[in-house]
Amino acid sequence: MKMRAAVLEEFGQPLAVQEVELAEPRAGEALVRLVACGVCHTDLYTASGADPSGYAPTVLGHEGAGVVERVGADVTSLSPGDHVVTLFSPQCGECIHCLDPRTNLCLAIREQQNEGFLPDGTTRIARDGEGIRHFMGCSTFAEYTVMPEIALAKIDPEAPLEHACLFACGLSTGLGAAINTAVVTPGSTCAVFGAGMVGLGAVAGCRLQGAERIVCVDLSLERLELARGQGATDVIRGGEGAVEQILEMTDGFGVDYSFEATGNVAVMRQAVEAARMAWGLCTVVGVAGKGETLDIVPRLLITGRRLAGSSFGGVKGRDQVPLLIERYLAGEIHVEPFISHHLSLDEVNRGFELMEAQDGIRSVIDLG
Ligand SMILES: NC(=O)c1ccc[n+]([C@@H]2O[C@H](COP(=O)([O-])OP(=O)(O)OC[C@H]3O[C@@H](n4cnc5c(N)ncnc54)[C@H](O)[C@@H]3O)[C@@H](O)[C@H]2O)c1
Ligand SMILES: [Zn+2]
Ligand SMILES: [Zn+2]
Repeated sequence: MKMRAAVLEEFGQPLAVQEVELAEPRAGEALVRLVACGVCHTDLYTASGADPSGYAPTVLGHEGAGVVERVGADVTSLSPGDHVVTLFSPQCGECIHCLDPRTNLCLAIREQQNEGFLPDGTTRIARDGEGIRHFMGCSTFAEYTVMPEIALAKIDPEAPLEHACLFACGLSTGLGAAINTAVVTPGSTCAVFGAGMVGLGAVAGCRLQGAERIVCVDLSLERLELARGQGATDVIRGGEGAVEQILEMTDGFGVDYSFEATGNVAVMRQAVEAARMAWGLCTVVGVAGKGETLDIVPRLLITGRRLAGSSFGGVKGRDQVPLLIERYLAGEIHVEPFISHHLSLDEVNRGFELMEAQDGIRSVIDLG
């Protein structure tokens, strides 16, 4: 079939929205009609050419939500009409990691996905007979996509898809960092560095876990206001003095749980330093630049601080994204404030411009 899609032709150049061909789903795959897709930093990171593992041409986008249109052979858990959220982090349910409650890092299709192919090592997208690679196994800046069954989370059809799409990446990442990775305890104190989509999700996750005090740190006053709306009890302007301020607010000890959601290694260090001696846990979520390293004084660890990292918030996508969607439908998670702009597919490059200008938290592309 023919469809419109935003193709990254050349790094550093605007995406080109055009007609491409999409093949039918093969065994274990589903064809999804996309309804909405968020614009995330990772799309921009790849488009810019900064990502050393990037490839082109490819159809970008990975924060998608839509409706299953057709399924290939051997697909048992999805049917036409099902509402789904796309998962760049799949859940096969059978690999050694899927079987272990400690991680969400499914091993099933990593290699092929990293290369831009579906699990059988081929692509479903083409133009003039030339294959175009899939991005993060998703390629959701398009009217349709073909994805593996194990990378689609079936959700409650009551959930508006223009909100549900945010659970495909940033929001679940932040929520999950607090709920799954740190497992924040009721009555605890928390500090979240960064109030973008991920940090705000972590603030919301701390609130859902029953944290008593949630300090959010960012450079933008506007974003700190949004953090209050998600449950931050205190807000601090980021920069040199942020750690001292957090220590002052916590009788000199620091917080039980700190989170880093900026991608800046100097801020990661601050997040470790803001964690309490004896048991403070720092969870790093931000993605640092290539080759950058984290510099911390080992004594901070010897005296009981712990450091963890979190990919997609430790969320096992097929099982847990639907549960997060249920909490959203129950009114526990406020998605509307994150969406600052609605764009058409043709305006996808505007989404990147808005992101670079830090105008709003998320632009959502309406594809329906
Ligand atoms: N681990 C994962 O699975 C995963 C998934 C998605 C995104 N990420 C990463 O999470 C990070 C955050 O993503 P985002 O979409 O929220 O980005 P974002 O750019 O919207 O938010 C980052 C925020 O950090 C703030 N900031 C910058 N410098 C600061 C400082 N010195 N002190 C305090 N705040 C500061 C910015 O003002 C901004 O609000 C990125 O590095 C992204 O790549 C990780
Ligand atoms: Zn993303
Ligand atoms: Zn697996």
